Amino acid sequence: MKIIVTGSLGNISKPLTEILIGQGHQVTVISSDSKKQSAIEELGAVPAIGSISDVEFLTHTFTGADAVYAMIPLSFTEPDLSDYLRRMAQNYAQALKAAKTKRIVVMSGWAADLIKGENVENEFDELDASITIMRPGSFYTNFYQSIDLIKGKGFIGKFLTLRYSGLWALLTGKTGLLMGNYGGEDRIVFVSPKDIADAVSEELLLFTKKTTIRYVGSEEMTCNEAARIIGTAVGKPWLKWVLLTDKAMLQGLKMAKIPEKLAETLVEMQAAMHSGKPLENFHRSRPKMGNVKLADFAKEFAIAYHQK
Ligand SMILES: NC(=O)c1ccc[n+]([C@@H]2O[C@H](COP(=O)([O-])OP(=O)(O)OC[C@H]3O[C@@H](n4cnc5c(N)ncnc54)[C@H](OP(=O)(O)O)[C@@H]3O)[C@@H](O)[C@H]2O)c1
Repeated sequence: MKIIVTGSLGNISKPLTEILIGQGHQVTVISSDSKKQSAIEELGAVPAIGSISDVEFLTHTFTGADAVYAMIPLSFTEPDLSDYLRRMAQNYAQALKAAKTKRIVVMSGWAADLIKGENVENEFDELDASITIMRPGSFYTNFYQSIDLIKGKGFIGKFLTLRYSGLWALLTGKTGLLMGNYGGEDRIVFVSPKDIADAVSEELLLFTKKTTIRYVGSEEMTCNEAARIIGTAVGKPWLKWVLLTDKAMLQGLKMAKIPEKLAETLVEMQAAMHSGKPLENFHRSRPKMGNVKLADFAKEFAIAYHQK
């Protein structure tokens, strides 16, 4: 099959490309960075260099393909995340329609339907195509963004550590925290991008008559259990994941000069996770868990942590 993979050599798209190439498919990988060209070729795929904000480029690249994996990279530089996500989803829908693509796998998130600003799934409703919406849980790779915080060096971390959770850090004298307006004893489905890549590779080869939704997870646990696994891997077995109020989180993001609308969307995303509703939906759909456990990922994480 001729398959288009968006998301460059990102967390999901690199292992996805490797799987598809291994199965003998002809794969084109979209990247916005011409420096990735040779790395894409080394995987045995064809690079298509351009931006998902360019409908003409997308249409040209999708034309003649049997299936497309469509993902929207999160952008923390866009002042209005919701508006950005909607615009990119509309670009995809326009290009997929013009290219008459018949099989589409769209990357979404397990809480997307619960977040006003983040749900762009319905932008694909009008397409005359077979569509699967992927709703993965929280990626293991998100922990990479917390390395400074765990080391006690993050700006938001410092502010919030002192103001809201400082007692614990000061009393123990051991800095090293994860935090957010979900956390603590909240139960979360965590997921390895490699397991997502497996699930996407299966979906790309299927053909569903109706639009279907597929939840993906690797391991369910509380945030503090996850913190203990990550902390143990880096020699901080006391690592805690502090649960902040929505208000405290918003204040912290504002102090870190995150644009107001973006900060509000981020708080809304995390509040949905804290509500437990995504977990209920996940359980209701009863997906099979993936193979990669957090303890496996923690070994890779420890290498990156010590190198930084
Ligand atoms: N993190 C989570 O917990 C979570 C949970 C649920 C769902 N999700 C969803 O999962 C997706 C993230 O997947 P991922 O982690 O595999 O992605 P990723 O590793 O962040 O990779 C995305 C890649 O897309 C490329 N890109 C960025 N802007 C582009 C543009 N304008 N045009 C073309 N390519 C562009 C970049 O590579 P180049 O520089 O080479 O272009 C980037 O490395 C998002 O849709 C997110 O909403 C995430």
